[in-house]
Amino acid sequence: MSDMPAALGIELEDLTKIYAGSPEPAVDRVNMDIAAGDLVVFVGPSGCGKTTTMKMINRLIEPSSGIIRLGGKDVTKGDPVQLRRQIGYVIQSIGLFPHMTIEANIGEVPKMLGWPKGKLAARVLEVMAIVGLDPDKFAKRYPRQLSGGQQQRVGVARALAADPPVLLMDEPFGATDPITRLNMQREFRKLQQDLGKTVIFVTHDFEEALLLGDKIAVLGDRSKIVQYDTPLGLVGRPADQHVSAFVGSSVHVRLLGLITAGKVADPSIAAGPEAPQVVAGTTLRDTLDVLLGGIASVRVVGDDGKTVGGLDYAAVQRAVSGELAELAAGGTQPTGSARSLRAAAAHR
Ligand SMILES: Nc1ncnc2c1ncn2[C@@H]1O[C@H](COP(=O)(O)OP(=O)(O)OP(=O)(O)O)[C@@H](O)[C@H]1O
Ligand SMILES: [Mg+2]
Repeated sequence: MSDMPAALGIELEDLTKIYAGSPEPAVDRVNMDIAAGDLVVFVGPSGCGKTTTMKMINRLIEPSSGIIRLGGKDVTKGDPVQLRRQIGYVIQSIGLFPHMTIEANIGEVPKMLGWPKGKLAARVLEVMAIVGLDPDKFAKRYPRQLSGGQQQRVGVARALAADPPVLLMDEPFGATDPITRLNMQREFRKLQQDLGKTVIFVTHDFEEALLLGDKIAVLGDRSKIVQYDTPLGLVGRPADQHVSAFVGSSVHVRLLGLITAGKVADPSIAAGPEAPQVVAGTTLRDTLDVLLGGIASVRVVGDDGKTVGGLDYAAVQRAVSGELAELAAGGTQPTGSARSLRAAAAHR
């Protein structure tokens, strides 16, 4: 789609912002490594500096001190316009151009990059489909003729349009209804599976964070990193009370949603050929749902259709306690990352 690389890692070194006239920094010496292709979710209280940190990464706000590297290259000093071409940005307040149609809004960056007309038009249609906006209905309208949630989807389409290797998304689904939101989360997860962009995603919705994040950064005041971990690590070994509060009380049920049947299928459980089968990428939560339908055990099959083992209630319980024990012992498992769940979901 473009000449840009598929993804670029992001490194923040002692990144700091002190707004003029403020006695205290809004963001104070943040250090973070984000691997190329990872989706990292920022969660944290209002005013803790999430938006400020994002805006420093594409230099809409200039850092007071510290270094930003993109793909290993220091971008703190170079041309900010050049930098922003590699970064799709969904801003918190949506920020569409009111005097431009939806299609013009979406195509703005590729147009600026000099894409030929045909390719540009095709891409606008493509990204409108991704966010579920019918071009016949919406392409020629103006932002004020759309609802808040529809405008937000245009914002996401616009950030995707030039196919940039890095995406910064500041509460991108916040204004959408629960069903549209779930659809967009699913679509985005599948899309991320294919595209593998490096994404920073801000949300106040912890479920969304668990669903989408390869890693989650729980931030405190001044963007201090309280815990930077996989969803599994966050749920299974919260660093402190603050993180526990985010996770809430349903630790075991949350873990069920983060472990796949394929990982814990037990070859010694002989589920007969008549037993219902689940594919390896099914979460234990969905597996349990099948068992609760009144079935003793399910057969777990791999991508190739071959049986990898079985699961019953006791095995599900063993898997959850085993995972907790492993996390407590300091083991890290890639199972809990959205990347593996996405991979599993992709062929469902
Ligand atoms: N232009 C500015 N000048 C001075 N202070 C600012 C400016 N922009 C933001 N701040 C302050 O910096 C702090 C961090 O703001 P920021 O917008 O980054 O928070 P946030 O984590 O994105 O919050 P929210 O979850 O509400 O969006 C806040 O205390 C805010 O009042
Ligand atoms: Mg914000």
